Amino acid sequence: MSTLSKLNIGFIGCGNLAQSILKSILSNNILSPSQVFFTNRSENKLKKVKSEFGVGSFAGNDELIDHSDIVIIAVKPQDFMEAIEPYVANFREDQIVISLAAGVPFTTLKSLVTTSTRLVRVMTNTAASVSQGVVGFYHARDDEALDATIEQLFSSIGEVYALQNEDEFAAFTVAVCSGIGFVFEVMTYWAEWLEQYGISKEISEKMIKDTFKGAVSLLEKNKNLELTDLQSKVVSKKGVTQAGLTSMHELELDRVFRVSFEKAVMRDKELEKFVTP
Ligand SMILES: NC(=O)c1ccc[n+]([C@@H]2O[C@H](COP(=O)([O-])OP(=O)(O)OC[C@H]3O[C@@H](n4cnc5c(N)ncnc54)[C@H](OP(=O)(O)O)[C@@H]3O)[C@@H](O)[C@H]2O)c1
Repeated sequence: MSTLSKLNIGFIGCGNLAQSILKSILSNNILSPSQVFFTNRSENKLKKVKSEFGVGSFAGNDELIDHSDIVIIAVKPQDFMEAIEPYVANFREDQIVISLAAGVPFTTLKSLVTTSTRLVRVMTNTAASVSQGVVGFYHARDDEALDATIEQLFSSIGEVYALQNEDEFAAFTVAVCSGIGFVFEVMTYWAEWLEQYGISKEISEKMIKDTFKGAVSLLEKNKNLELTDLQSKVVSKKGVTQAGLTSMHELELDRVFRVSFEKAVMRDKELEKFVTP
């Protein structure tokens, strides 16, 4: 029996991400609707979620906190303080409090919640909405039971990874969460180049999607090989692929990515300053 089967899970906010998680955990039988409760700022959305999924609700965030074993904060960063600050005294030591909010650092959570409540920061990318997300979590504790609970809770929306400190969390946020946006940027250049040769936009995008999909499938089917091993199978000395790769190295494509990722990390840190207790 799942360790979650006897717990009440309360979501503060029933927006896009909370609903994606809800759909996945219910369809994978990780929780039953009777275990899940929501609050939301606008009443209409809350009513819709209740009637669609058969979950419960509370009128206020304080009531939800009081009735939950695990509280999941799923509001936008700009709404975080209003949603949580008035109710921090309600958090209990036996609870797990998970923040999904981007831009709210773990240290901010820690300074807000002074009880020894188990606090966890979780980030996922948007592929969570199709159960193919990559989920990272950090809680600054040596607590395998807590790791297992988080993995169980989020495994239905994607692969779950434990991160060891806030720097790893920041790098994860950029490479994996913003990463989806970066992948689409690269796919766009790729498809546009094909279009310049007369292939329609629709076909170009499909060809590129299938190329990326094929590369991922090769990786999945050859788990013993590294990226560079698989790449070397495409490259022959003085061949076509080698010519393209040599140019990419000369143009320092790796530097373009590295600098861009670092700029995104800097922006993440800047945004964190706007959410202070
Ligand atoms: N969507 C994703 O895939 C994704 C990925 C990574 C990270 N995130 C992070 O996850 C968080 C949620 O994102 P989202 O896309 O789900 O946002 P969203 O769709 O805007 O949902 C946020 C929900 O919180 C509700 N809310 C605001 N203040 C509240 C309060 N005081 N009490 C209760 N509910 C309140 C809002 O109510 P209203 O109905 O009034 O708007 C809204 O339904 C954000 O911090 C975001 O950065 C999301």
